[in-house]
Amino acid sequence: MASDKKLIIANWKMNLDMHEASLYLHKLSKMVKVHRDIEVVLAPTSLTLQSLSLQVNLKQFKLAAQNFYWRDSGPYTGEISATQLRGIVQYALVGHSERRHVFNENDKDIRNKVAAAIRNNIRPILCVGETAWEHANNETRDVIHDQLAGGLANITSEELDKIVIAYEPVWAISAGQGSTPVNVLPDDVQMAFQAVRSQIKHLYGEKASDSIQVLYGGSVTGDSVADYLALPGVNGLLVGWASLNANTFNEILEIAHKSASAKKKD
Ligand code: PGA
Repeated sequence: MASDKKLIIANWKMNLDMHEASLYLHKLSKMVKVHRDIEVVLAPTSLTLQSLSLQVNLKQFKLAAQNFYWRDSGPYTGEISATQLRGIVQYALVGHSERRHVFNENDKDIRNKVAAAIRNNIRPILCVGETAWEHANNETRDVIHDQLAGGLANITSEELDKIVIAYEPVWAISAGQGSTPVNVLPDDVQMAFQAVRSQIKHLYGEKASDSIQVLYGGSVTGDSVADYLALPGVNGLLVGWASLNANTFNEILEIAHKSASAKKKD
């Protein structure tokens, strides 16, 4: 069953070397409070995953891969497989917009990665979202429809239970970098979340659509955490640059916990 915990994921992207990553984890694990309503996931670079997996206390944090190749082994120079990540990570990002747009990953690559993650007992976080152009041309629903249909092709209802979806408008990712973060309008987020859930309902039925975990990501900061988590159907957040500082990320976790417990009381 999909968990009803809020999932807060730190996507470090291509930042923090081995020493910095280890120091960060040491610092965060000392100050973080474990809350039953929050699951915290760190997504460091592939280089640091192995050593962090030995250092991490899984009661505090889970680990996620930012990327991997979908075949289990073979002559694929420079790649890492989900089979090799098995036991090291619990989650993996799939179809992040930077993979789609900078590295030209297509629906076939993405669907193969979703299947490979599941095959290797890793929960895929399937990222979807429209570009600025698509947003301006009211194509958000169509993009979400196509990216979900592409990424989930051949996935059974049972397998869907292991999948997390992250909606990230491409135009809001890395925008502002702190000085003027982009605040995506609540109406836009809600419309996109409805599009995600209605496509899941169409493909897998109402129960699956109600229970699948859907996250929001794109310029999330401590100032916007509570607003996004207060929106109906938002089950967590994918945080990029605001997660690069352990103190800031810890503040985000505390705000997330407070808004998760406030929402429960509603
Ligand atoms: P950002 O990145 O918070 O830096 O916008 C989010 C993401 O890409 O997952």
